[in-house]
Amino acid sequence: MSTQKLIAGNWKMNGLAADLVVARELAEALAREPAAARVALCPAATLIAQMNWQLKDSAVEIGGQDCSPETSGAYTGDVSAAMLKDAGAGLVILGHSERRAGHGETDADVAAKVEAALPAGLEPIICVGETLAEREAGRAVEVVAGQVMASLPESLNGKAFAVAYEPVWAIGTGLTPTLEQIEEVHAAVRAAMVARLGEGARTAPILYGGSVKPNNAAEILAVPEVGGALVGGASLNAADFLGIIRAA
Ligand code: 13P
Repeated sequence: MSTQKLIAGNWKMNGLAADLVVARELAEALAREPAAARVALCPAATLIAQMNWQLKDSAVEIGGQDCSPETSGAYTGDVSAAMLKDAGAGLVILGHSERRAGHGETDADVAAKVEAALPAGLEPIICVGETLAEREAGRAVEVVAGQVMASLPESLNGKAFAVAYEPVWAIGTGLTPTLEQIEEVHAAVRAAMVARLGEGARTAPILYGGSVKPNNAAEILAVPEVGGALVGGASLNAADFLGIIRAA
């Protein structure tokens, strides 16, 4: 099992061309002192090609934040997996809770997007996570395991991918689950991955996401079955993101 963690930054709907300086600073710092982890930045689709140009020859990988389940055609405003790949992405975040909540994406929609991403050569990062009401009702493990079972298509077998556990109530709030809660859910995610895809699913990393900062990254990344982090706000600043990367 690979011990190399994946630290991915999700810029969400932030960042203009001028902000690519953050990506350059990151690449320069990692050129001086290479990271132990795999590092990726996932900017808005509009920035992928420029970021790819600026990061050429760097160890920093690039990902999209969503893709269409369709390959091409009359889908105004949508971006296909092949388009992301063509622009320079190697990964794609799918099923983020902001898309599930804000755009009504279901587990079946997420699975269809995964099915579109794989043949385009993109490595999906599939997001799951419970709401505060679900956690307070004692249903976190049940909800997250159900999302894993329904969002991961069988075609993931043998493919490179990651799952990201992002409790909805921990995103952008400064709140995080206890280390015991993270360990419990990550173990349940792994069990659901293996139940769905078989023993081959033991090696795909399970990232934790939700208010990961330089000051809590080391303890979170040391939890059993935490194979990396999906970082929102702290990835918009090179020093903060580097602080998390150096903790891996
Ligand atoms: P924050 O790190 O800003 O809480 O965001 C987490 C997230 O949603 C990453 O996808």
